[in-house]
Amino acid sequence: MDEITALIMEDHHTFRVGFARLDDAQGEEQLRALWEPLALHLDIHAEAEEEILYPHLLTDSGGEEAEEETDDAIRDHNKIRDGIVEASKHPVGSDGWWAGVWQARTENSEHLAEEEDEVLPDFRKHASMELRIELGARWLRFFAEHPQGKGLDFHNKDPKRYIAEHEQD
Ligand SMILES: [Fe+2]
Ligand SMILES: [Fe+2]
Repeated sequence: MDEITALIMEDHHTFRVGFARLDDAQGEEQLRALWEPLALHLDIHAEAEEEILYPHLLTDSGGEEAEEETDDAIRDHNKIRDGIVEASKHPVGSDGWWAGVWQARTENSEHLAEEEDEVLPDFRKHASMELRIELGARWLRFFAEHPQGKGLDFHNKDPKRYIAEHEQD
């Protein structure tokens, strides 16, 4: 069975490749065809992590830095979401659109490095393989239950409130 950190890293690879493909896209139609699924995938991925992975960092499977790492991660997700929202306010391919896309891209690159070098290693160290596999199954179910992001709203979250709410669980 798939364990959650491997599934997360598959998404991360898809994001890197997706942003790189925009470099080669020609014209509005191609840009839109690449960007819309990428933006949606970024939004669903962040939501899935906030729903499935991060709560475990704050309860049974985080390291000593779990609170700080979660705080950073939520802030990063907010900045990525802001970039996506900014892009959506401008015509595809315009300077304003690229500015939003570039914010999402650079914030995402920074976030993936932190997640892969800090969050996921700590989680692997503290979570049992049973839990990793169980969360992997939940991860896949989450995407199946929200095709095209159906039923999700991709709002920013206050990191302090998120941590307080999930520590109590
Ligand atoms: Fe991630
Ligand atoms: Fe993340």
